[in-house]
Amino acid sequence: MLVLSTVRLNIRPFVEGDAPAMAEVLGDAEVMRFSDSGPLNQVQVSDWLGEQVKAYSLSPDFGRWAISATESERAIGYIGLTQDEGRTAAREAELGFRLARRGWGKGYATEAAQAVVEAVFRAGRVDRLIGIVDPHNSASVRVLQKLGMSYARPITFEGYDYPDHLYVLDRPGL
Ligand SMILES: CC(C)(COP(=O)(O)OP(=O)(O)OC[C@H]1O[C@@H](n2cnc3c(N)ncnc32)[C@H](O)[C@@H]1OP(=O)(O)O)[C@@H](O)C(=O)NCCC(=O)NCCS
Repeated sequence: MLVLSTVRLNIRPFVEGDAPAMAEVLGDAEVMRFSDSGPLNQVQVSDWLGEQVKAYSLSPDFGRWAISATESERAIGYIGLTQDEGRTAAREAELGFRLARRGWGKGYATEAAQAVVEAVFRAGRVDRLIGIVDPHNSASVRVLQKLGMSYARPITFEGYDYPDHLYVLDRPGL
């Protein structure tokens, strides 16, 4: 189970009490602009949290974790390290992140993601991290670039009329 601290952030498992804080994140249309679902209502946020908590027991090393600032328990977003048959190959995981708007522009996503990248590679759990991003999502593209990820190829999912971009980062020493 992932528990990490950086200079300014804590990364920890979600609990059901994170619902109000995560409603601020997942209920915001601007935050969810590049998501498949659009903004989530309160019931959907509770369901989403329940899925994350349940996933820890099935696969403790992968999933989505809460990001909070060190001075507060309140979640300001999530960082994800997920494996999904349709998206990741063997020994791969996908990095994802989403932050409340008030957390943007402070380097938080990069700080959290750097800590997770280091931890997962140090533990040797995967050989490659991928990031899948809408090319118009400039902030997210920039975070992937700051992590040292390289653009690999376009990837078009069913129902989409233009491709996302796949970024990759291999475990050092491979
Ligand atoms: C993507 C997201 C997590 C970034 O969070 P963040 O903490 O602001 O990211 P950071 O501060 O670590 O880095 C953002 C970088 O993007 C840059 N950036 C932000 N908005 C930008 C824009 N519109 N155009 C170009 N660059 C932009 C910032 O300047 C910064 O780069 P820099 O350090 O070189 O100046 C946040 O914007 C978010 O939650 N967006 C909505 C959810 C989302 O799209 N998630 C990703 C799905 S793949």
